[in-house]
Amino acid sequence: MGAVAISHKVVRQPDTWVLLTQRIALGKQLFNDPHLSADGTVRCASCHMPEKGYTDGRRVAVGVEGRTGTRNTPSLMTLEEAQETSFFWDGRRSSLDQAVLDPLTNPVEMGLHNQAELLQRVQEDSAYTSAFAQAFPEAKPVISSEHIAAALAEYVRSLRSPESAYDRYALHGDKTALDQRALLGLAIFKGKGHCAECHRLGGAPAVLTDHAYHRTGMGLDAITANLPNLTEDVIKRSLQGGAIGNRVATHADEAQLGRFNVTQDPADIGLFRTPSLRDVSHTAPYMHDGSVATLDDAIDREVYYRSLQAGRPLQLTVEEREDLKSFLQAL
Ligand code: HEC
Ligand code: HEC
Repeated sequence: MGAVAISHKVVRQPDTWVLLTQRIALGKQLFNDPHLSADGTVRCASCHMPEKGYTDGRRVAVGVEGRTGTRNTPSLMTLEEAQETSFFWDGRRSSLDQAVLDPLTNPVEMGLHNQAELLQRVQEDSAYTSAFAQAFPEAKPVISSEHIAAALAEYVRSLRSPESAYDRYALHGDKTALDQRALLGLAIFKGKGHCAECHRLGGAPAVLTDHAYHRTGMGLDAITANLPNLTEDVIKRSLQGGAIGNRVATHADEAQLGRFNVTQDPADIGLFRTPSLRDVSHTAPYMHDGSVATLDDAIDREVYYRSLQAGRPLQLTVEEREDLKSFLQAL
């Protein structure tokens, strides 16, 4: 019996590893394939650009036929490190396998009509048939939307942001990794700035989020007058089972309701998920609607708004803001 168990282990482990590698490679191929969009021009990497930290540098995303969405494209390479368990700015998906399929049928992203159309496009390509057969040897049928999702999700999970100066400092004990400015910034971040209450420093590497939702002044003012109508519409539609993602991407005012779109709880109006600040200096513009152009503006905004919100208004000197910025640049 013992011998069987050992040989089983020896054979199994490399197998699993090979399969995972094949799934990641297949996911990467799908991620970079424009034929999976309605007009053949948009791929995941059009918006999640590797050279821009898997964001697009735009205020809001631009998809098929130049259609614009309502939200800023988040980085994908920090999801695994931030131990994210809910996805999108309003956390409307709780599994990555579900989240990766949504953009394909979102009318302002890749614009396919439905998952049947996705399946047809993948099945038509003979290169995919053999790649899927290898990566999912037990799958019947060989290609299904479930396996497309699994491959895309494995690829996204394999992404990592580069090791940061703060990782070297906090994770590897390299006390020289942060300069004097960044150290002062860290003290403000943890201390009187109270930033770390939401952008948490725990985790290895630091997750820089609390995985929770918070109100933001951003964008809510513009819709206040129309709030009763908007919320009523959202509740009505949720009873009809409409896809939240498609709706918020095409209705800017509803998108500003944030977490409310998911829960329909009035307490959740205007709440958004705390973004991880890993690699944050490379992912401008900022906030769920991309309305803040630079890191300096984002810092000013957060210092002012969060302290006001917590009932302890905070003034930082120009020097202290620079310190905070140096620290954020080290993340
Ligand atoms: C047209 C631009 C665009 C394309 C194309 C696109 N995305 Fe996105 N992606 C976005 C935007 C914008 C969001 C945020 C939407 C929201 O929160 O409502 C997002 C969010 C995500 C998220 C959630 C990230 C998080 O922080 O929770 C995942 C995962 C994701 N996209 C994967 C993909 C995959 C996989 C593809 C290809 C199948 C893809 N995206 C194609 C713009 C795009
Ligand atoms: C109460 C929780 C909370 C506190 C405290 C907080 N933040 Fe945030 N932070 C958030 C949320 C939520 C967002 C997203 C808001 C949005 O998109 O509208 C955010 C967004 C940001 C962004 C933009 C990130 C991006 O990718 O768009 C930066 C930069 C930032 N915060 C820095 C700070 C700094 C610096 C402090 C301390 C002065 C701080 N935050 C304090 C919750 C918080």
